[in-house]
Amino acid sequence: MKSTAGSDAAKQRAGEAAAEEVTDGMVVGLGTGSTTAYAIKALGERVDSGLDVAGVPTSFGARQLAIDQGIDLVGLDEVDRIDLAIDGADQFVVETGDCIKGGGAAHTREKIVAAAADDFAVVVDETKLADELEYPVALEVIPAAQPGVETAVETAGGTPRLRQAANKDGPVVTDNGNLVIDCAFGPITDPKTVALELVEIPGVVEHGLFVGRTTTAYVGTEDGLNVHRY
Ligand code: 5RP
Repeated sequence: MKSTAGSDAAKQRAGEAAAEEVTDGMVVGLGTGSTTAYAIKALGERVDSGLDVAGVPTSFGARQLAIDQGIDLVGLDEVDRIDLAIDGADQFVVETGDCIKGGGAAHTREKIVAAAADDFAVVVDETKLADELEYPVALEVIPAAQPGVETAVETAGGTPRLRQAANKDGPVVTDNGNLVIDCAFGPITDPKTVALELVEIPGVVEHGLFVGRTTTAYVGTEDGLNVHRY
């Protein structure tokens, strides 16, 4: 589930600014989505000019784009650590740096990459900003566990909704072969507690709450860019 409200110019400013942080020899996590795509394209241009980097893609889409841009890739299981991961978000709170991800159904690999990275840069346009997280939280769920997960989410006070595919009959199937259940909780005053609750549900592979991970946020606006460091 995705918001498409932000302007391309604002997304581009954010994505390109994050790509500028990459230096020679880095292992870079390549996030998923339309804002990160600007970072990957900018990185590709710098690779053309001689920058030496290895990218770790977070999805089939990110992998394909990076290949198109001529960026050398390395598997997540082939690196000990990542220097910098760049990724988008569906909702972002400037005060805390916490965000909700998973609009592209890639949040499991995105979180593994973010966790392995020394620095995690979030790139968003200003339409993604909120005072409090309240965007539906995406859960990647093992298919057989769908009914049980939905019941557990309802017990936790959420409203679950199986994500449907846009250009295929039936539900979205992730790069890992799982389903996505979007869970509306209303305003999430304590993201850490909700995150821990979701992790406990059997059959949930990963949830889209990213708490305490951001080290830098690049927020593109209509006429500029705001950078926040954590
Ligand atoms: C994919 C994500 C994306 O980063 C998120 O949906 C933002 O995408 P976009 O930049 O296209 O708005 O979490 O799982």
